[in-house]
Amino acid sequence: MFIKDEVKYRYNYHISPKQGWLNDPNGLCWFKGKYHVFFQSNPFANQPGKSYWGHVSSENLLDWQEEDFALRPDQDYDCDGCYSGSAIELNDKLFLMYTGHQNLSDSYKESQCLAFSEDGINFQKVSNNPVIENPPEDNTNRFRDPKIWKNEKNIYAVIGGESKENRGQVNLYRMGETFDNWQYQRKLAIAQKKDGIMWECPDYFEIEGDTFLIVSPKGMQDAGINGFASVYLQGDFGFNQTLEGYELNLIDLGQDFYAPQTFWDPIEKRRIMFAWFGMPGLQEQELKKQVGALTLPRVVKNKNGKLLFAPLPELQQLRTDEKALLPFDTIEDYSEIRMTPLNRHSNFLLRITSKIEGSSYQISYQDQKIEISFFDSLRNVRQSQKIDKVSELRLFLDSGLTELFINDGQHTFTNKCELIGTLVIEISGQLQVKAYTLRKGIQ
Ligand code: FRU
Repeated sequence: MFIKDEVKYRYNYHISPKQGWLNDPNGLCWFKGKYHVFFQSNPFANQPGKSYWGHVSSENLLDWQEEDFALRPDQDYDCDGCYSGSAIELNDKLFLMYTGHQNLSDSYKESQCLAFSEDGINFQKVSNNPVIENPPEDNTNRFRDPKIWKNEKNIYAVIGGESKENRGQVNLYRMGETFDNWQYQRKLAIAQKKDGIMWECPDYFEIEGDTFLIVSPKGMQDAGINGFASVYLQGDFGFNQTLEGYELNLIDLGQDFYAPQTFWDPIEKRRIMFAWFGMPGLQEQELKKQVGALTLPRVVKNKNGKLLFAPLPELQQLRTDEKALLPFDTIEDYSEIRMTPLNRHSNFLLRITSKIEGSSYQISYQDQKIEISFFDSLRNVRQSQKIDKVSELRLFLDSGLTELFINDGQHTFTNKCELIGTLVIEISGQLQVKAYTLRKGIQ
């Protein structure tokens, strides 16, 4: 079945499937000379279904080659979806650890499974799946999204879950002598009541001596969008303790950002993050208009215990031309706009309108507050954030996707807005603005 024509907008340099539905990024890694990005995919319809693992690969994180599906829901234990997971290189092979989702008559079962590949393209599920059949006793059947990693001594996985009191929690496992032998260790963190009934897509890593846990809570009382958010916690997860007193930091301030995953780039020695450029519940409402996409790769940096999510430096290589924008100008809908305020107290305003769709997107900075407001046939949104000093803003536009990076990733806003066709730009205030047309990246 080929359903491409159902979708109105295609993207130029964001990873998106040729057809069908996309959600979480999975299995991010570098293996035998290439970067690999997998993603949750339903190839048969532009709506959630039984998840496959879609797959793209790249030598430079810019030009992506579409590969065959890595995982298909074709076994008893994953017949209703090969849910999210991650990748690790072991003994020269690439292993994918994922959740097998199986519907039962009145409930469902989630167990953890492995598949491996010699070449990073063709995968085979191990014969003794599921390698973790049941959740720990104090976890409900919501038990998914293993993120696997190794330190000098051991291989670990964090697995998202829900406590019997309906609080999100992260389960820590350690691999034994063989890859099908896993031992439950303890909880890494447990949610306070308001912080969600289920913590999906956990990720755990260290940067410059500090340890961080990323989770995507579901059913979070304080989160703006349908109770979903993606947050990070910084803390000491060691010494056999469970982190209880914690501070949640929102990763992105936009409304189309969920289920991020990071990986260590052994070539450039940095941690890179991709996320689903979408949100459960929101993306479903716009199915006929826009297909799913992943965000651009972002470099995760630690600044005094706070994380920054900066645009990957190589994205500059997508630029094909450069022009200084006049107060009233036009650009293509696949461009980057770079704004530099003339001094730290400059107030400014930049407004973008799409002639075709009649939609608009505006950034204003006044009294040390940044405000993003946008409007189209599906949205009328206003977002704001106090920021003492704005030194640089970079806005990436790609046929209806907008990604705004402020101060090299100190704050980011990831939003969909139908900015399609030639875009009209209006600028006021003390602001220097350059625009770059960006070349195609995805095959
Ligand atoms: C997050 C999520 C994961 C799950 C996957 C299924 O968006 O719900 O917890 O593995 O999507 O597609």
